[in-house]
Amino acid sequence: MNLMNCDISAVLFDERRIQTRIREIGQQINSDYDGKVPVVVGVLKGGFLFLGDLVRAITLPMEIDFLAISSYGAGTSSSGVVKIRKDIDIDLTDRDVIIVEDIVDSGLSLQYIKDYVWKHKPASLRTCVLLDKPEAHKIEISFDYVGFEVGNEFVVGYGLDYAERYRNLPYIGILKEECYT
Ligand code: IMP
Ligand code: MG
Repeated sequence: MNLMNCDISAVLFDERRIQTRIREIGQQINSDYDGKVPVVVGVLKGGFLFLGDLVRAITLPMEIDFLAISSYGAGTSSSGVVKIRKDIDIDLTDRDVIIVEDIVDSGLSLQYIKDYVWKHKPASLRTCVLLDKPEAHKIEISFDYVGFEVGNEFVVGYGLDYAERYRNLPYIGILKEECYT
């Protein structure tokens, strides 16, 4: 029994469903980037498991790097203030870049990251997000690859945290409100 299960009100996506969807996205990327060597940039920390599974579903030669930003602190709503905590090491100039992010809520973080990566003059830039909260967007933002859509609930697991906890849950679930209020 996972000791964190009692903090979860509903499981939205179990391990099997996550893996099936990631294989589909991987196949899509394999065909979209055929003949290319993309650079996959994972956004830490939330995207770490998604990136790990996604790159194993991609059969092309590729390079992997990470970008760490801070946006939320320990709360559950977007501050809109984004800070780079770990920069990308690979030179992205003229490269085909795919940003991998865990979840898009207001959209402010991903927009910031996209603008930041464009400054490095990549040949192309696409975004891949595991979860999207369409009703929460504060700006107009679109992605190239999306795992699943969710409502406005606060979700944890499979890399996503609340105050650094729950990242190691193997599934994605809704955190009980009593756990963060
Ligand atoms: P945004 O800038 O509002 O789009 O926030 C995006 C970031 O906030 C994500 O990369 C997550 O790290 C975090 N976040 C937003 N919603 C959730 C959630 O429901 N659970 C866990 N983290 C979240
Ligand atoms: Mg994130």
